[in-house]
Amino acid sequence: MTIGVPKEIKIGETRVSMTPSLCRRCVSLGAKVLIQKAAGLTAGFTDDEYRAAGATLVGDAAKVWRAADLILKVKEPLPAEYDLLQEEQTVFTYLHLAAGPELAKILLKKKILGIAYETVEGADGSFPLLKPMSQIAGRLSIQIGAYFLQSQHGGSGVLLGGIPGTMPGHVVVVGAGNSGAHAVQMAVGMGARVTVLDLDTRKLEALDSEYRGRVVTLMSNPANIENEIADADLLIGAVLIPAAKAPTVVTKKMVSRMRPGSVIVDIAIDQGGCIESIRPTSHKHPVYEQHGVIHYAVPNMPALVGRTSTIGLTQATEPYVALLVQKGVKRALAEHQGLARGVNTEAGKIVYPAVAKALGYS
Ligand SMILES: NC(=O)c1ccc[n+]([C@@H]2O[C@H](COP(=O)([O-])OP(=O)(O)OC[C@H]3O[C@@H](n4cnc5c(N)ncnc54)[C@H](O)[C@@H]3O)[C@@H](O)[C@H]2O)c1
Repeated sequence: MTIGVPKEIKIGETRVSMTPSLCRRCVSLGAKVLIQKAAGLTAGFTDDEYRAAGATLVGDAAKVWRAADLILKVKEPLPAEYDLLQEEQTVFTYLHLAAGPELAKILLKKKILGIAYETVEGADGSFPLLKPMSQIAGRLSIQIGAYFLQSQHGGSGVLLGGIPGTMPGHVVVVGAGNSGAHAVQMAVGMGARVTVLDLDTRKLEALDSEYRGRVVTLMSNPANIENEIADADLLIGAVLIPAAKAPTVVTKKMVSRMRPGSVIVDIAIDQGGCIESIRPTSHKHPVYEQHGVIHYAVPNMPALVGRTSTIGLTQATEPYVALLVQKGVKRALAEHQGLARGVNTEAGKIVYPAVAKALGYS
């Protein structure tokens, strides 16, 4: 099997889908690995390290795409890469198709076997390849929010931890899963007042017992959300309905009642966002202002910390990549149900029901 690792081209992306250590493993299992030159540099891995691990370095992205049976990426193929996709090729990456109807069309047209990191399932029904990036995005969301709350960045000038004699900032987190729980952890660490809302009482119970009253937990419903965010300095959107378009949990009207200079970080933007007034931004232009509130909605937040993110991501993908190399794609999918749950497109069809539903396919 030939594995192709192109350099990521999304704005500000710094991650790479393969470390030299993963490369060594794949080569030892019998794969040929083609890596685009400089693909790992922004994550701190040099071409020489990949060469020493047995990879072949290739100057041109097109050559990597053309020669590979399996394309291993981080972010979804972008329009500049659509022509590079080879008919019936296997692509293993984040796809987030519910928010990408154009990409879905291309994958169907080219009969791509699209295995989405975000829907690969663990034995317990969890999403092991989404988890590390959600943890990173959750942790980052608080430091990003704190940065944009600063007066010089257009924010209200609230210090999240306050000082003795002043009111700490109020952080409201909607969604208490992987990203939400890690946002809560960072916000508590900074000394903020923290409220977290979810529909799943088990998630709220876990946070309640972990923080012993230090965090307010509430059921997610429109009344509670409206009340809490009217007093929020920083609102974090962290909900997920697996593979589906994110539900709108915060309306424009609720946002318009937030204090001027407050900040929203919608982590769920990769699934379309859970705040009605949100639209995707990029690392180049990360924020915009609406209703006097700063909106941040970068779909590849972990790229801000390319080294940690690359290591976290590839540690999670390694067992699946090894399985694909050892058994071949067909047998690996036939024998490993969790990996097979990652398949979103195959032979010109969308085969993941929630994605099909979100995009209006049968
Ligand atoms: N922007 C980025 O760079 C980035 C990075 C990583 C992950 N993400 C995205 O972050 C989102 C969250 O991922 P996660 O791993 O934390 O998911 P998760 O499944 O661990 O948690 C999602 C939580 O949302 C809750 N939820 C669902 N509907 C809700 C509602 N109406 N109100 C309140 N809570 C609700 C669920 O009960 C669950 O606890 C996903 O869209 C994921 O793809 C984005």
